Formats: sequence, C-alpha cells, structure tokens
Amino acid sequence: MATTAEYRLGEFTFPRGWFMVTPASEVGSGPTPLRMFGRDLVIYRGESGRAVLLDAYCPHMQAHLAAEQTSGAAANRIEGDSIRCPYHAWRFGSDGRCDHVPYFKGPLPPAAKVRSYPVEERFGCVFAWHDPEEGAPDYALPALPEWDDPYWVRCTFDDLGTIPVHPQEIVDNIGDARHFGPIHGQIMAYFDNIFDGVTARQRSGGGHETMTTSEDGILESDATYTGPGILIARYSGETDAVQIILHTPKEDGVTQIWHGLITRGQSVPHSEADLAMNKSYHDLGLAAFAQDFAIWRTKGPAIHILRLPTDGPFPRSRAWYRQFYNPRAQAAEYQARANGVHYTSGVAGAPDLHAAE
Ligand code: FES
Ligand SMILES: [Fe+2]
Repeated sequence: MATTAEYRLGEFTFPRGWFMVTPASEVGSGPTPLRMFGRDLVIYRGESGRAVLLDAYCPHMQAHLAAEQTSGAAANRIEGDSIRCPYHAWRFGSDGRCDHVPYFKGPLPPAAKVRSYPVEERFGCVFAWHDPEEGAPDYALPALPEWDDPYWVRCTFDDLGTIPVHPQEIVDNIGDARHFGPIHGQIMAYFDNIFDGVTARQRSGGGHETMTTSEDGILESDATYTGPGILIARYSGETDAVQIILHTPKEDGVTQIWHGLITRGQSVPHSEADLAMNKSYHDLGLAAFAQDFAIWRTKGPAIHILRLPTDGPFPRSRAWYRQFYNPRAQAAEYQARANGVHYTSGVAGAPDLHAAE
C-alpha cells in the first residue's frame, strides 16, 4: 500500500469528484455511520425521501450523529430532512447547519454546522460529491440510459469490499493496453485512449477468453471514466452489456469497490433466457474483474512505472488523474497534458467506425 503523497498526486489527499458511497437500498430512515475519504460520516434518508450525507461529529461536543441513543427519549431523530444529535439534541439540516437547539433561543454561532455533501441517487447507488475545496460539483454524473430501458436487465451491485491499494493503481488500467493479453486472455485487435477534460476513455476490441463464450467471439469495449471513481464500460459483441465499476477512496491508500453488470434482453417482460444470460454475463464480467483484482491485491505500489515505448500512455493517464488531487483552478493545466487521442505504439487504434462521438 502507498499513499497519495507517495504517488505525488498533488495537494489533496483525497480527490475531488463524484463517488459511490453506498447502495441506495442501504440508506434507511435511521442514521447510519459511514467511513469514506478518511472521514467519519453519517447517512440517512430524510422524510422527503432524499439521502443526506454529513460529517459525523457534532460541533457542540463531538458526539457521533449516528450514535445509539438508548434512552428512547427521541425515538425518531430524523425530523423533516434534519437530524438531531443524540447527546444534547441539537438539530442539523440537510445543508449541515444547526437549525434548532431545544434549550437556546438566540442566534447560533456560524460554527454550529457540520459539513454536508451533495448527494445524488442513480441506478441504485448513492453518489456523493467530495471536494477538498468544498465547492459545488463541476461536472455531472454519467448518464446510464440503459438502466431505464425496459429491455435491459438490471443488476444489484456486488460489494467487493476494500483492498489496500491506492485508486491510482486501479485507474492505471484505463491506459494499460499490455495487460489485456496476460491477465484477461485477450487477443487484441485494437486499443486506444481518448482523454477529454474529466473523462478518460478506452476503446478496445478483440477475442476475450473470459468474456466471450465461443472461440471466435469478438468483444468490443468502450469504457469511460467520468471523474476519478466511476467507470462505465459498454460491451458489444455476443451480448450488449454495460459493466459499472465504482471505486471510492476509503482511507489514504485503501479503496472500496463495487461492481455491477446489466445486459440487454430480447423481450419485455424478460424471458427466462434473458435472465439466464444476464446471470452468466454478470458472472463473466465479475470473473474478468477478479483477474485485475488478483494482481492488485498482491502487487507493490507502482510509484514509478518502468515504462517502455510500447506500453500504454501512462504519463497521460496519470496527468489526467492528478487533476482531481489539485485545486480546481489548476485542473485545466493537467487536462491540457492529458487531452487528446492516444495510441499505444504497436497496437492499432479503433477503426473509424468507432471514432469518438
Ligand atoms: S454533542 Fe451534539 S448536541 Fe451536544
Ligand atoms: Fe483489466
């Protein structure tokens, strides 16, 4: 395991961006403790139905907002979209500001607040905007129209737990043309990268031992990071599928990972065959991802890559990733170092048919 400082990523220990924090199904009406970005957090669903994510410690005397309150004095600590601290019952709104103290009528000091994180729910996941500068989101979550298309078979997300690996090592995959053969059994027909602002895209195609079922099966993949923690990979070939890989820094050098895979069925409602195909493809997708996982789990940190000219464009992908660890005022400089279409020497780029939209 290595830390952000060891990779020399930038000023911030934890990056700016949208990150999965929990499956939506796990956010109930009661406050739940959560640990992400090296911080103790609390998440709950307000009475309006919205998920609220706050720093956990009350500014009054530092009680944890999700701590158990055994007296039963206030069975329901969620009022509207606000939450009451279990210790002296200060109440905090979804914006994190204290909006009521039962024993004090005067104006509250400005410090009577906890940090609140913008939250959005999409495709069964709760995403939070983390920004060391505490600014508003400067890009949108990626669209996943397939999720709302009735032909597509949805998934629940696999919680793959945490690995003691910095997310840098996971993001390195986006430009790593040369691991596809040894790790995934792919016979590569083409591979290229397109970096553009906060997105990093990888297009690849070829035979794939794990994710194709017939010998001459061709798998085409078009995978895009939107920000540092959300990867959506669209596969076409034998089956149309979308793989969603979500990773979030939990501690400095420790990453939590979720995986989901949805497939296009042939009928609405889905036939048994559609569901069976979804299950088998999901298992194949997970198996392919496990191949990367097996390496990450045991590898040392690649602080420096001994890069050969015919390796993938790691200097570009690492410059792209650094934008999220530095003040947003500097993001354009890092983007300028990464932006463009990048080929891996010795590997064909994607055919024109698949040119960037
Ligand atoms: S510690 Fe939270 S109200 Fe006192
Ligand atoms: Fe991989």
